[in-house]
Amino acid sequence: MIYLDNAATSFPKPSAVAAAMAEALSVPASPGRSGHALALNASRTIHRARKALSKLFGLKDNSRLIFSPNVTWALNSAIGGLALGAGDHVISGPLEHNSTARPLSRLVAEKGVFWETVPLIEGLLRPEAFKKLLKPQTKLVVLNQASNVSGDLAPAREIKEAIGDIPLLLDTAQTAGAIDLEGAAEWVDFLAFTGHKGLLGPTGTGGLIVKDGINLRPLAVGGSGSRSESLSHPDFLPDSLEAGTANTHGLAGLAASVEYLLKTGVDKIRAEEMELTNYFLESLLSIPELAILGQKPGQGPRVATISVNLKSWSSSDLAAALEKDFGIMIRSGLHCAPMAHKTLGSFPGGASRFSIGPFNSKDDLKEAIRALRLLAKKKKS
Ligand SMILES: Cc1ncc(COP(=O)(O)O)c(C=O)c1O
Repeated sequence: MIYLDNAATSFPKPSAVAAAMAEALSVPASPGRSGHALALNASRTIHRARKALSKLFGLKDNSRLIFSPNVTWALNSAIGGLALGAGDHVISGPLEHNSTARPLSRLVAEKGVFWETVPLIEGLLRPEAFKKLLKPQTKLVVLNQASNVSGDLAPAREIKEAIGDIPLLLDTAQTAGAIDLEGAAEWVDFLAFTGHKGLLGPTGTGGLIVKDGINLRPLAVGGSGSRSESLSHPDFLPDSLEAGTANTHGLAGLAASVEYLLKTGVDKIRAEEMELTNYFLESLLSIPELAILGQKPGQGPRVATISVNLKSWSSSDLAAALEKDFGIMIRSGLHCAPMAHKTLGSFPGGASRFSIGPFNSKDDLKEAIRALRLLAKKKKS
């Protein structure tokens, strides 16, 4: 098997992840609730995960990091928690995933919020495009830092500078663990992450970092292990946004994967992935039947995700043939990102997405190129 679907979920995980999860599962774990030694041990596990992630994101006060089941929940917590209403204005990038596009679209339909998207300028996202759309009513800017379709990387820091005090919600689903986030936790207003992609952790883990002083209305309230005498949910972080028992076993795995990333170095992983990506892109250019989505190779910064369309093949037929004949696993279709495919001109057919991870080798990509060359010749009607 050759796994090139790391943008969906990374595989394999560092071996320490399964070991940490198995260890956590071998003892009872109810963090922040009972006061006995085993419960305290579970709390320490959660603390370990918060500490490792804070280090990775450059966060000084780790109570501002709340855990959630995935980035979708984290993004909804920010978009829904601001309690936006009629007349409020939101700006987003044009390559958003449904996990921001759907909550925004619901705010438009149900609350009368006005949502605009910036255009790409010569194929790239430009900070001035965001600045141009700002209005006195603008309450939020939402940005997918790297497209899960084209792999194109947005200039997030420059966009934050261009929009000034307007809160920026950054979707780091495709960047956390894959690029140096330059201490984003301290210059972004909301940083949403998922544990199971570039962070190399298990599914069921993710979170949101919230800027100091911003109050979000929690999507869920309930048990918190704190202020139990009150029927009102605590209003302090992280408890205010973490109702219910935490996913201790998942967070044990996430702590181990982030510690692995800190030890290995995100820069090292980034350099290796970019070497493979550049090799893959250059080789793709030698297949005339192929079209690469998004910016031209070398035009701007990117992550290790590449989507293509092969003449006379549907994206799903191509993915099926790659798996059946070559054991290569990729993802085809719309990648939960119809907005991105509309922007990139590949809607409604979608594309075939190859996403490289830290454990892929040049041989994996050589085989993918060999397969694409053969399939390009074997035309489908
Ligand atoms: C850019 C982007 N945002 C959000 C998500 C949603 O991730 P999750 O399903 O982990 O919430 C994904 C996952 O595919 C993504 O690529």
